[in-house]
Amino acid sequence: MRLIQSNRLAAALFGLGVAILASAQDTYHVVYQYPNSPYTALENLAVRSNGQILLSTTSAPTTQLLDPSAASPKPVLLYTYPGATSALGIAQPQTDLFAIVVGNYSGFAGVKGSFSIWTLDLRGGLPGKAQKVTSIPEAEALNGASIVTGNPSLILVADSALGAIFRVNIITGQYVEIEQNSLLTPTGSIPLGINGVRLFGKIPFNTQGTAMGNPTVITHALSSSLTYDDFALDSSGNAYVTNHPQELTRITPAGVQTVIVNSTAFDQPTSAAFGTTSGLTCTLYVVTSGTSTTISGAVLAVQAC
Ligand SMILES: *[C@@H]1O[C@H](CO)[C@@H](O)[C@H](O)[C@H]1NC(C)=O
Ligand SMILES: *[C@@H]1O[C@H](CO)[C@@H](O)[C@H](O)[C@H]1NC(C)=O
Repeated sequence: MRLIQSNRLAAALFGLGVAILASAQDTYHVVYQYPNSPYTALENLAVRSNGQILLSTTSAPTTQLLDPSAASPKPVLLYTYPGATSALGIAQPQTDLFAIVVGNYSGFAGVKGSFSIWTLDLRGGLPGKAQKVTSIPEAEALNGASIVTGNPSLILVADSALGAIFRVNIITGQYVEIEQNSLLTPTGSIPLGINGVRLFGKIPFNTQGTAMGNPTVITHALSSSLTYDDFALDSSGNAYVTNHPQELTRITPAGVQTVIVNSTAFDQPTSAAFGTTSGLTCTLYVVTSGTSTTISGAVLAVQAC
């Protein structure tokens, strides 16, 4: 799940839906394809102000760095989190200060008692300084993370099994469960609610990370074979939603859906983020997890506007 803010409100969006196909197969290119051995699944990404991309892997508990502007981009390992199987959501509450969700998954099921929040501080340069912020022992399947707009200390983290959101202070380590709602709980055979179900909605938050209203649904999926995952918002509030098994879908604030890409190259897309540097703010980077342990994930770049 991705929680993103527009203006002073943070819209927590939870995923699903699809309708119109606007095929444009030449609008993307592969930035980096991981070799199939060892199997590498990408779950999330964040783009630094200098354009470099941080990647979370679920196949190993790592954060990696990829420079898409390099002639031949190659990922570099920044950190391996101890005692866990996976790195998940990434948020950037301050420039070059990242918060990372770490924990164990067994298939789609999170392992209760395994989840923690870390920071990776790149303000002093690479490879950065990793530090554990707190464990969240009651969490069952932490997944996506978001900043709280206008607040450099707080992040919001989604629990896909509990259908809950935790607010975490990355400076003090204090955390609290702030939202649990039946709209956010798992609905299908996969035990993941907020983050990757066939429902797309929003929750308003203020700068203290307090929900200012109930979750509302923006749109529903039109096909039961599609599952929404993370997304990026453009400056007009359109969401670019990664959509399993192989699509990228744009959803307007009014809920109008357009398939931007439908390609086997987008093999289980898990998250998306816009470029940050001059000339690249319409470039949408998409990460994929690949096909269960045999085909690794990739980083792709889509011309999105
Ligand atoms: C999480 O996975 C790691 C690595 O396999 C393991 O050492 C650790 O005990 C697991 N934690 C829990 C709570 O199961
Ligand atoms: C995407 O492509 C697949 C394979 O060609 C097709 O089955 C599916 O219906 C397409 N999705 C949409 C939304 O058109």
